[in-house]
Amino acid sequence: MVFKHDIVVVGAGLAGLRAALEAANSGEVALISKVYPTRSHSGAAQGGIAAALGNEEPDSWEWHMYDTVKGGDYLTDQDVAEILARDAPRAVYELEHWGVPFNRTAEGKIAQRAFGGHTREFGKGPVKRACYAADRSGRVMMDTLYFEAVRRGVRIYSEFQMLDLIMVAGRVAGIVVYELATGEVHCFHSRIVLLSTGGFGKVFRTTSNCFANTGDGVYLAYRSGIPLEDMEFVQFHPTGIYGLGVLISEAARGEGGILRNGSGEAFMERYAPTIKDLAPRDMVSRAIHMEILQGRGIDGRDFVHLDLTHLGEKRLRERLSDISSFVRIYLGIDPARDPIPVRPTCHYMMGGIPTDLDGRVLDAHHRPVPGLFAAGECACLSLHGANRLGCNSLLDLVVFGRRAGEAMATSLGELEWEDLPRNAQDPAVSRMKRVLDRREGDRAGVIRASLQKTMTENCSVFRREGSLEKALTEIRRLMDQYRRVKVDNRGKRFNADLLEALELESLLGLAEVIVVSAKARQESRGAHYREDFPERDDGGWLKHTLVRKTGEDPEVFFKSVRITRFEPKARTY
Ligand code: FUM
Repeated sequence: MVFKHDIVVVGAGLAGLRAALEAANSGEVALISKVYPTRSHSGAAQGGIAAALGNEEPDSWEWHMYDTVKGGDYLTDQDVAEILARDAPRAVYELEHWGVPFNRTAEGKIAQRAFGGHTREFGKGPVKRACYAADRSGRVMMDTLYFEAVRRGVRIYSEFQMLDLIMVAGRVAGIVVYELATGEVHCFHSRIVLLSTGGFGKVFRTTSNCFANTGDGVYLAYRSGIPLEDMEFVQFHPTGIYGLGVLISEAARGEGGILRNGSGEAFMERYAPTIKDLAPRDMVSRAIHMEILQGRGIDGRDFVHLDLTHLGEKRLRERLSDISSFVRIYLGIDPARDPIPVRPTCHYMMGGIPTDLDGRVLDAHHRPVPGLFAAGECACLSLHGANRLGCNSLLDLVVFGRRAGEAMATSLGELEWEDLPRNAQDPAVSRMKRVLDRREGDRAGVIRASLQKTMTENCSVFRREGSLEKALTEIRRLMDQYRRVKVDNRGKRFNADLLEALELESLLGLAEVIVVSAKARQESRGAHYREDFPERDDGGWLKHTLVRKTGEDPEVFFKSVRITRFEPKARTY
């Protein structure tokens, strides 16, 4: 079957929804989601959305911009950070007017709390900048924007998995999808495709990401010849529930929670004397690993404690109710009485598909690809640099989702329809048939577990040449093994077995790009810490990494960082 819409948005998280509803007045917009749309991963965001409203303490957009740039270890393109910080208050009030139920101050203003790396007066101490709805900020934003998108006539296609991007002579013509409910393969014919498919934390064994976060959109762009940017920068959130990786929001520390080692010491005071537990995530995650490596984990083991016991039951109930219930359910622990065992969990990808300020995807020559847009975690605007600050992600999604929506609406006046190639779905159908027909080989789950093991052991918070080389060899062996991937379920309806096999191609391809990028960058910056190159090296490495697919090994090249206001300097907190 062929569906025809002016614009196809792939991914129904907050970036996709925000872009779709912005463009809906100018053309027919289809929103394609591999899961039921409101189950998209933005709904799991807990802590809040940053904006210098100054509702609880004096604040300014310049301080927010500075924190974003410094938090990103100066790899952030500063014009992008300026747009984000200046536009944040408008974006938050827009959400409020659409009905997002933010917590309130006693005077009825939007309440705000402290978050990692957000400071007053250019680094003097923490500032309350995160606007929040208890610890379910993403959930309420998702529900609000979904309603708004439906109200504006966005056509929703639920549980459709994208299989191919259709390009004709370098221009977008649509996408190929797999309908999970029927097993049918369809084409969407469109003038514009926006990729908003989220992150790919499932490359690692322990992650806060949901099962659907396998990076399909990023990989399909890469396979179509688009380079990927800054892929070595993978964020590990300091406080994943030990053994599970489920997120315990940084809001817990924003509300006063303290990390303690095996001796009960509040160890962050040693690593970041000014803002302590509210240091940026890359620093806190490294600090936790150092405590563990030096034998100061709890009972000498591989976790530390997050202590919320002094916050009191009322505050936990009112502001951190979801995470309190997670630890009760998963660990049988009452956070008002017992400290929570935590360790870093893969949370966010700073890198992805390169775009301009309005979501236009850029090719290897930094030129926009006609009709192709990207927004959200799958995109790399170079906003978060080498390390994203908490609460800047929800903000990124709505600020730059809106800009992409506006740009798509404008582009409709300029873009002609490309003819859909005959049998555009054939390559995807053949790939699926090969997997379904194979009788001998390995299951996707077995290959994926090996991939996650090697990425976790060799390319996590600490990396070095030897570990990266080991990961690359193993990934390439697994890519070979993947050529013989097989499924047990050969049915047509909701074949999750087949879906997992298809997703695994993306995970393998993206893992290779992460490791190639990490090997290339011979310095330590933000979330990329090389034990063999422990210093930041602005002379050699103040530049973005790009990796392009070729017939042979991926090609690595670079582009410069845009610095407008803040010259790089030592990053201490
Ligand atoms: O800790 C958190 O609530 C996560 C927030 C974020 O990643 O922005």
